[in-house]
Amino acid sequence: MTILITGGAGFIGSNFVLDWLDSAEHRDETVVNLDALTYAGNLENLAALEGNPRHIFVKGDICDRALIDRLLAEHRPRAIVHFAAESHVDRSIHGPGAFMRTNVEGTFTLLEAARAYWGALEGEAKAAFRFHHVSTDEVYGSLKAEDPPFAETNPYEPNSPYSASKAASDHLVRAWHHTYGLPVLTTNCSNNYGPYHFPEKLIPLMIVNALAGKPLPVYGDGQQIRDWLYVKDHCSGIRAVLARGRLGETYNIGGWNEQANIDIVKIVCALLDELKPSEQGPYSRLITYVKDRPGHDRRYAIDARKIERELGWRPAETFATGIRKTVEWYLANPGWAERVQSGAYRDWVSQQYGGEQASKA
Ligand code: NAD
Ligand code: TYD
Repeated sequence: MTILITGGAGFIGSNFVLDWLDSAEHRDETVVNLDALTYAGNLENLAALEGNPRHIFVKGDICDRALIDRLLAEHRPRAIVHFAAESHVDRSIHGPGAFMRTNVEGTFTLLEAARAYWGALEGEAKAAFRFHHVSTDEVYGSLKAEDPPFAETNPYEPNSPYSASKAASDHLVRAWHHTYGLPVLTTNCSNNYGPYHFPEKLIPLMIVNALAGKPLPVYGDGQQIRDWLYVKDHCSGIRAVLARGRLGETYNIGGWNEQANIDIVKIVCALLDELKPSEQGPYSRLITYVKDRPGHDRRYAIDARKIERELGWRPAETFATGIRKTVEWYLANPGWAERVQSGAYRDWVSQQYGGEQASKA
């Protein structure tokens, strides 16, 4: 048995691949990992899989239909789990084109390839096939302080080029189910944090900047609220939906953990004060309020009752346990963050991985 993952060298995708290959349940399965290795893709995340014959890494673009057709024909996966995306809101504001291409056109290309592949399957293989689309809570727009958290029935009101492109991809997935019967599942998850998180996003940026004695830039008044989920809990939620989710359904995944950005930054500072105190004084001295992000969504919150009711999933980590593990991981892996920040990880990747490689991460 094989599954095809897209975007498995990114933050969540690499955590998913590592956990999948580590679990006893998937001992007999191979992961084909298709990733274009954009700035966000880092094969160093998968270094633990070096020499593992169950991990087949393919450097390639989800917009490349011929490549996807070939991978599907060659590896005959029982499922596609689609993580690949442009994922950073700030980048989408400066350059929305890449978001339209990968998130919309790329998802369309994958859906069409999956439809052709699934259409030619028979019997049990056809019944078992799944296309799992990994999406975000940002498609629902912004909540007011008194609004209930996002349920799966909330209308789509995306506000950034990123969330609009993800909303478009969700709609495509839905339409391919309703029109062609493609067996799809969609999960919409809240903000993740944890190991291998690229330090352009809030939590890893605060950790690496604090350790470097640089300012901790808090946008606007810092009172924007996000619902934070430890990445490994997101991965277990995806596994639950992939295994037992109802076809054509969407499931919200969240951490039951709404926090204002400024509080997140203060928690990170306090943990660093405890684990790696600075001679210059508390890390919170570095907090710097900066100009707000245009169109900044005020609040996201997830109502994750459906996935709990139907599939029995709940996060294993509290924010206190997850953020401690995260800060400890960054302290234990300074070289990873350093190579990401200096760009050295890209040279390393291009020296070693020109094209398709089997598990040499
Ligand atoms: P990421 O930016 O860390 O990783 C994305 C990966 O996709 C990278 O490895 C990149 O090389 C690859 N990629 C980009 N364009 C590609 C293309 N055209 N073809 C093939 N590969 C390509 O993103 P992430 O944070 O790991 O997010 C993964 C998915 O989860 C995304 O779909 C995102 O929308 C969704 N999501 C993320 C969060 C979060 O908090 N990070 C929350 C909810 C949902
Ligand atoms: P981010 O990690 O970019 O995720 P998203 O925009 O997808 O929610 O940002 C999380 C929150 O932190 C968001 O409200 C923007 C804010 N933020 C800052 O205040 N400063 C920063 O330097 C960054 C990157 C984000």
